[in-house]
Amino acid sequence: QMPESVTVYEVGARDGLQNEATVIATADKVEFIRRLAASGLTTIEATSFVHPTWVPQLTDAEDVLREIDLPGAVSYPVLVPNLRGLDRAVAAGVRHIAIFGSATESFAQKNLNRSVDEQFEMFAPTVTRALHEGMDVRAYVSMCFGDPWEGDVPVGQVVEVGRRLYDLGASQLSIGDTLGLATPGRVHDLLDAFDTAGLGADVLAVHFHDTYGQALANSYAALEACIRTFDASAGGLGGCPYAPGAAGNLATEDLVWMLDGLGIQSGVDVRALAKTSSWMAEKLGRPSTSSVVRALAAQ
Ligand code: HMG
Ligand code: MG
Repeated sequence: QMPESVTVYEVGARDGLQNEATVIATADKVEFIRRLAASGLTTIEATSFVHPTWVPQLTDAEDVLREIDLPGAVSYPVLVPNLRGLDRAVAAGVRHIAIFGSATESFAQKNLNRSVDEQFEMFAPTVTRALHEGMDVRAYVSMCFGDPWEGDVPVGQVVEVGRRLYDLGASQLSIGDTLGLATPGRVHDLLDAFDTAGLGADVLAVHFHDTYGQALANSYAALEACIRTFDASAGGLGGCPYAPGAAGNLATEDLVWMLDGLGIQSGVDVRALAKTSSWMAEKLGRPSTSSVVRALAAQ
């Protein structure tokens, strides 16, 4: 049966803003994060400690973290690929990091300048030290349903990379549909395969991009598999600059609207959140792609 409550893992300030042509001022990012928390979100991925020339939109990571109030009931995970990123995260007082691996060779090269095996050589000491610092580590696995260069990705290959990432010492594995290619049947198949490999709903999260408009249907499929952590991005912002053809994430408002209708608790006030996304859409100079944000704005 379906879960009674779920955690929404908000990625708009990271996955969202990393892919926007307009660079948002640090003060506006901080205001965005503050408003996300005020709408009831309790896990807000704040930024990335990656190489500044790789993601110029997030070069102000230190400044953003300095200005948000780190302690408290809200957690602010950040992306960290390597020891250099971890040094920066430690100095900034970060408690939760996320490493991000690729299920395919092509995307590992494009996104991390590493082969699939080399990415583990980079992540292993990073996770070891993060755990030593008492941090919590999440692991993403990207390109779980298809890759722009390699096409379909075999389920066994995805599960193997996911298993290796998780075994480094992660507390949660987020299944990334980087390109938005998944459909509900494939979601069931992949989640079943993870479950068979000993990675069940208690340690999995799903991370759907909405390129083909399937993210909400895929989320419903994941609910049927009893997944309880859903990544989503306020207003549907986002994509990955190193994954051609990837559009924004599942909009948090679209997810929460469905959860509300199903009577599944998320703690998120969808109307307050939609106002924040409309505000951010103005800063970005383009309307939100979320149906719920547009419908509520028209009321
Ligand atoms: P590299 O060029 O191989 O790095 O990049 P390197 O290890 O050879 O180091 C080269 C120089 O960069 C060194 O400086 C390092 O200190 C510096 P030098 O000694 O030459 O003066 N450096 C750094 N500086 C600051 N912060 C750092 C850092 N690391 C090295 N962290 C690297 C390898 C991993 C760094 C690079 O490929 C990178 O930054 N990639 C990140 C790409 C990215 O952020 N992509 C988007 C996020 S992934 C995503 O969106 C998918 C997801 O949403 C899930 C899904 O949808 O599937 C998560
Ligand atoms: Mg993503």
